[in-house]
Amino acid sequence: DWTPDVFADVTIAELKEQLGNDKVVLGLSGGVDSSVAAMLIHHAIGTNLYCIFVDNGLLRKNEYEEVLASYKNMGLNVKGVDAKQQFYSALAGLSDPEEKRKAIGRTFIEIFDQEAKTIQNVKWLAQGTIYPDIIESVSVKGPSATIKSHHNVGGLPAKMNLKVVEPLKTLFKDGVRLVGKALEIDQKILGRHPFPGPGLAIRILGDVTPEKVRVIQEVDYIFINHLKITGLYDGVWQAGAILLPVQSVGVMGDERTYESVVALRAVASVDGMTADWVHLPYDFLSDVSNEIINKVKGVNRVVYDISSKPPATIEWE
Ligand code: XMP
Repeated sequence: DWTPDVFADVTIAELKEQLGNDKVVLGLSGGVDSSVAAMLIHHAIGTNLYCIFVDNGLLRKNEYEEVLASYKNMGLNVKGVDAKQQFYSALAGLSDPEEKRKAIGRTFIEIFDQEAKTIQNVKWLAQGTIYPDIIESVSVKGPSATIKSHHNVGGLPAKMNLKVVEPLKTLFKDGVRLVGKALEIDQKILGRHPFPGPGLAIRILGDVTPEKVRVIQEVDYIFINHLKITGLYDGVWQAGAILLPVQSVGVMGDERTYESVVALRAVASVDGMTADWVHLPYDFLSDVSNEIINKVKGVNRVVYDISSKPPATIEWE
């Protein structure tokens, strides 16, 4: 029978065998998957695991600093890399969702490649790929049937010349969380909602600018914080805010405003393959909406997304 403890023990033993004294590099994302993958490998090979955590400028507010600190507490050998400007430059002027994903994937690989080169004799690249990543990206019907190109799958250039190790590729998200718990990873990390690799870039519809990132970070922060303080966070599978590429008319004092609209999205799901919108209480939505409109400059309207997957997807891009 499958148990998380057995999975962890067996996987760590296999990784020890497979990796020996080799050096391994791994890109941490701040999410559950890469964190659990890192801890499994850390238990197997200790400081021969080199983790890289990139600030792509598309993370949630305060996320980079907080997550980097918690990785250090976990004993991981981790290097933080500030690459905000490179990502913003790569995204400048792009508004097609797949082009944005590709630009982000490319930039990530460039930075990662640069950093990996500074580690002498690294042999392996570890990834936190889980089973749904593989099935959503690789379609048997060919590229046109690919729903969204998850940028963390299969994008690595051969020139990196690294062997790939993916200890979680047979698991779904709930399995990953159970294994993380067996490894005693902090609940703060394990309980986090999934967050897409391309980050806030795919929650800013159309082109991405640092100013739009700031706006959606503030909105998202208020929404997520309210979910936490009201105890709703753990019952929601994923939540976030989307900056729409439209402006609407509003009124503030006796002035007419013409500002951005944001959408809030909260879904219930098991593995992200299907999802239902969460029936958040009206009072909750009302409080969050008021706080957003009062505090976030540039936003004068909030809407709530009541679409399920399928036929909608979780993300808007
Ligand atoms: P969708 O929008 O396809 O999302 O219903 C399903 C799950 O996948 C996440 N997602 C991504 N994750 N790279 C990722 O690493 C991506 O390009 C990407 N697109 C969507 C999404 O946040 C949800 O959890």
